[in-house]
Formats: sequence, structure tokens, C-alpha cells
Amino acid sequence: MIVSEAPGKVILFGEHSVVYGYPALAAAISLKTRAVLTETGSRVSVVKSIPLSSTWQLDEEASNDMKPIKRIIELLSEEFDKNLKSGIEITIESEIKPGSGLGSSASVAVAVTGAIIRYLGLDLDLDFVNKIAYEAEKIAHGTPSGIDNTIATYGGLLKFIKKESGPVVEKVSVDKNFPILLVDTGLGRSTRVAVANVRKLFERYREITEHIFRTIGEIAESVWREISSGRIDFKTIGDLMNINHGLLNAIGVSNSKIEEIINIARKNGALGAKITGAGLGGYVVILPPEDKISTLYKILKDKYKKVYLTSIAKTGLRVYESTTS
Ligand code: PMV
Repeated sequence: MIVSEAPGKVILFGEHSVVYGYPALAAAISLKTRAVLTETGSRVSVVKSIPLSSTWQLDEEASNDMKPIKRIIELLSEEFDKNLKSGIEITIESEIKPGSGLGSSASVAVAVTGAIIRYLGLDLDLDFVNKIAYEAEKIAHGTPSGIDNTIATYGGLLKFIKKESGPVVEKVSVDKNFPILLVDTGLGRSTRVAVANVRKLFERYREITEHIFRTIGEIAESVWREISSGRIDFKTIGDLMNINHGLLNAIGVSNSKIEEIINIARKNGALGAKITGAGLGGYVVILPPEDKISTLYKILKDKYKKVYLTSIAKTGLRVYESTTS
């Protein structure tokens, strides 16, 4: 069987201001999605998603959840003139909660694309995988920026700038262990609503919000310069996360639950803590000090239950053959 794994992501700096053309930094995390492809020889291929508790037999109508995968299968069948409608089973398992802002749909798209490409005996061309996964993301999210599928494909840390001519992406590998704590606020979130709220504020207070976006962009740029020159000073990165969070709060995407988690984290030694992604719910991202990672993890876990200790993942898509399940 073929095992294909792709990571989730966190936005470390620059959410929201990225919509207005300023840079954002996103990192692959060690939480991942796995697509396992087996040759069954059956008349009808099957896709099973364990996180979504959903199964799709390819001779039936795909549910909305399965439509992005349907798109991948259509595109790859057309491109390589192959029949994927029979003979295979793809099972999706994931450590990433769907709809949480950690790039779960993109990691599924990349993992499934990688598995099928290997099954077809083709070389794993990452640019091609990324392109296909982006098409699946469009089915899932309308007009996504493409940051999630890019991270899930290549891994590491990316700088992402949205341009009319298409996104400009730079990648850097992070060699030092870069720990990340994620705390689930337990509150539902909608990227669409958060982005629309910020847009309203922007329209009403254009000059003021523009200054905020520009400052967030400068923060992202300055962290990028540090990291890409091989320096990682966690104290500085933490301070800048805190400043970035203050600015996100200023544009209205925080709330009392998020602030409570952030205050507890900082009180217990976090170097930095902020919203990651759209805000109003979802996750809080925390940079723990190197000597207190497990203490801080435990304090947060006792209080919030859904706490994940992860780190920046160097690799993106990884595909291999396995004889064991
Ligand atoms: O929470 P997510 O992963 O959907 O990220 C949203 C990031 C925003 O900057 C708020 C929106 C966007 O399209 O970049």
C-alpha cells in the first residue's frame, strides 16, 4: 500500500493584513494527514474519510465533503488518461481537526494527490501536486489564497504575499527545533465572517487600519529577515508575536476567551502568544520557552484539555510504500 502524508499549518504572523497585500509567515506543523491507498481490484473505487466519518463510492454522487477529492480524481484521470474509478481504496486519517484553521482540507488534498500520483507510477513533482491541491482547495473554500496547500506541499516556513498576478511565495527551512503550543478555544470560527468584519472596519477607518496592516507586515518582514539569515532568537520572535496579537485585537478579531488563554500562557512564561488564522475562535498559538515546554503544556492542558504540542515541520509531502497498516 501507498502511504502519503502532508502537514497542517499555522499562520505565525500576518493574518488579515495578508488580505491587503502585506506579507504573512506560515509554517508547516508536525500534525499531519495521512492518505493510505490500497489496490483492491474492486469494481468501484472507494474513498473513506475517518475525520469526517464519510465514505464515497465512486459510482455514487459525492457529498460536499468529498467534492474536493472528486476534483483531484477528475483532474488526474484527465491529465494522465487513467481510470481511477475502479480498483483502489483511499483511507484518510488526520491529526488535524477539520475546519479549525490548521489547514486540514489542504493537507488532505496534498496527501491524496501524492498517493494517486505514486499509484500511477509517476514522479512526485511538488509543483504539480501543489497545483492540483489548489484546485481542490478552490472547491472547498471558493477563493483561497493558496497558502495552505503550498505549506502542506513543501513544508518549512513560508513568506506569502498576495499579488494580483498570483501569490509570491518564498520558503526557508528551519533547522532549529521550533516548538509550538496550540490551544483550542473550543469556539467555532468562520474565516469569511472575520475577514468581512475587518473589511468593514477598513472601509470606515481606512487610514488607521492601513497603518495597522502595514505594521503587521513590517513585523512579518522583520521575523522573516531574522529566520532566513539563520538566526532564531525566540525572545524576539515571542515579543513580535505579542505585538502582532495586540494589533489583531485592535482590528476586532479577538474575544474574551482568546484573551484569557493568552494571559494565562504569558503569566506562565510563554515568550509569545497570539491568534492564529482568522480569529474569533479557532486556536491560539503559543511560543513556549525552551526550558519550560512541558510545564507550560501541562498548565494549559489542565485548564483547556485540547492543547497540542507541535513544532515547525521541515518536510511537506512525504510518500512511501508500506507493507504494514
Ligand atoms: O484561519 P485560516 O487558516 O482560515 O486563515 C485565515 C487567514 C486570513 O488572513 C484571515 C484570511 C486569508 O484569506 O488570508
